[in-house]
Amino acid sequence: MQVDLRTPWWIGAVRIPTRLVLAPMAGVSVQAFRRQGRRFGAGLVCSEMVSCAGIEHRNERTLGYLRVGADEHPLAIQIFGSEPATMAEAARMVEAAGADVVDINFGCPVRKVTKTGAGATLLEDPARAAAIVEAVADAVDIPVSVKMRRGLENGSRACLEVGPQLEEAGAASLTLHPRSARQMYTGEADHALTAELVERVGVPVVASGDVTSRARAQAVLATTGAAAVMVGRGAQGNPWALREILGENGAGPSREEVAAELVLFVRETVRELGERRASSFLKKFYGWYLGRGRFPRPFKQELVQLATTEDVELRLLAAAPGAAELLERLEAELPTGDEILLDMPISIYGGG
Ligand SMILES: Cc1cc2nc3c(=O)[nH]c(=O)nc-3n(C[C@H](O)[C@H](O)[C@H](O)COP(=O)(O)O)c2cc1C
Repeated sequence: MQVDLRTPWWIGAVRIPTRLVLAPMAGVSVQAFRRQGRRFGAGLVCSEMVSCAGIEHRNERTLGYLRVGADEHPLAIQIFGSEPATMAEAARMVEAAGADVVDINFGCPVRKVTKTGAGATLLEDPARAAAIVEAVADAVDIPVSVKMRRGLENGSRACLEVGPQLEEAGAASLTLHPRSARQMYTGEADHALTAELVERVGVPVVASGDVTSRARAQAVLATTGAAAVMVGRGAQGNPWALREILGENGAGPSREEVAAELVLFVRETVRELGERRASSFLKKFYGWYLGRGRFPRPFKQELVQLATTEDVELRLLAAAPGAAELLERLEAELPTGDEILLDMPISIYGGG
């Protein structure tokens, strides 16, 4: 039986309009990415991980700002850290900034994070993990969700032990990316484990890992009983995958659509990060958008070497002449709403 992903579910009292969640990805999930995800049908979008230590020590080099746009809701802001009191304080700020859900990262496999006792390490320390969730849940009125990996080592089943304890501590939803921290992104996500977690907890579970198509999303939902699927890498430079997964338009985009979306993304990212940071941040996106046989390979190389994002825009619009009109239409449709600027150091050491 097909699951209709365009049906709502709830994290605590927060209504999520579709069963498709856009994954938090460090170095990717800027506001432009999240707003685009919402436009293409994601029911929930997430910020990349924000360092709670960075919030506490205001003097930490500020790497960027998290902005909450009026058209992003529902939005989860993800925090990471290892001290319950500091995490609670960070959660209060996240709530004040307008997030609908505060998400806790117990999945980051990157050594820089795990060696501080944060991220995936906490899966091996259930008492501390539960203490963090409890402190955060006590500190805020918005629901708390947790994102985990299966455990630290290959074959670990730590998530099944810790999951029910996190629910008990106040987590209103759990996301599982069933790879070990050691695996990083190799091998396959083992969603048999997701099915076991669903059996063990009463809160909704979100299945993350290797969902790149409607067929895969349907298979994961049917075999796990998860409330929703999360899509990460599959949506990089490819928001059209979200529509396809939802069961809407399965046809790939035209060159004009690709160019128009990319130019819009470039403009929004420049507004968000400034020209200097945006121009290096955006380089990886050129490959993601223009690959998949959409444009000849040398074209990407050409874009990467251009000096300014304005040059990139001009080159893209020249390569796909119909894109300018599409872009105008897209920009006209974008809601212009209030934007809350959150003065928060964000991490460059992402992962989960
Ligand atoms: C570049 C990159 C950055 C990531 N950063 C985060 C992060 O900040 N927080 C987090 O919980 N997961 C992070 N993840 C993990 C994803 O959210 C997701 O669980 C994982 O990529 C598996 O899903 P996928 O196969 O759909 O990509 C990151 C993944 C990638 C590829």
